[in-house]
Amino acid sequence: MQDAAGSLWEQTSDVDYMRMEGRDTHPSYDWFNRRLAELYGDKVIDFLDCGVMSGTTYTKLKDVSPPCNYTGIDIGESLLESCRSRFPEAQWKQMSVMDLHFPSGTFDVVNCRHLLEHLPYYETAVREMFRVARQHVAICFFQVPRDPEALLRRDAAGGYVWLNRYSPGPFEDLLAKLSDTVETVDISQERRVDRIYFCTKGS
Ligand SMILES: C[S@@+](CC[C@H](N)C(=O)[O-])C[C@H]1O[C@@H](n2cnc3c(N)ncnc32)[C@H](O)[C@@H]1O
Repeated sequence: MQDAAGSLWEQTSDVDYMRMEGRDTHPSYDWFNRRLAELYGDKVIDFLDCGVMSGTTYTKLKDVSPPCNYTGIDIGESLLESCRSRFPEAQWKQMSVMDLHFPSGTFDVVNCRHLLEHLPYYETAVREMFRVARQHVAICFFQVPRDPEALLRRDAAGGYVWLNRYSPGPFEDLLAKLSDTVETVDISQERRVDRIYFCTKGS
């Protein structure tokens, strides 16, 4: 018998999840916005955000001047519909971070926040993000990489969700191969630690 169930993220319409329990006030957003401001100043940047859910990253970026030329992608169509109706001035497209339909070097900055943990594995997504980035790739984890690696697919009614914690060694080796420099910062809010890898691409 065929398994018809897919990723629960494709089906979710729970757009408020990332706004609950302080998830949308995590100081990792401020660190990221500050770093962009330091690097780009007044330049209007081409920005790709992967795995947008409720559009929180977009709303945080909107508070920073100047506004960026924002494109958000996700696999969940109802999430994207909600973002389109709330923020029609930005671009919202359905696609997977593992297969980005953009030419190489389209965006100054490519970002993904709390996404790689929910993929079967990270490598294709990381390579795709670096391909479409011109300058910077930022990857933020809520499951901070540590050994031993733990790949966990949780089955639920109607689908499944991956919740992975990756081994830091091979992950950081891959970033080092694709980057000139990688800044690694851990940012805490009470018990929630986010780790950001802020990568500057090699030439
Ligand atoms: C935990 S949420 C993070 C949302 C947002 N980045 C934030 O930090 O508020 C993960 C998001 O990634 C999306 N997602 C899951 N698999 C994806 C894939 N292969 N390509 C793009 N987005 C995906 C989900 O639909 C969901 O919106």
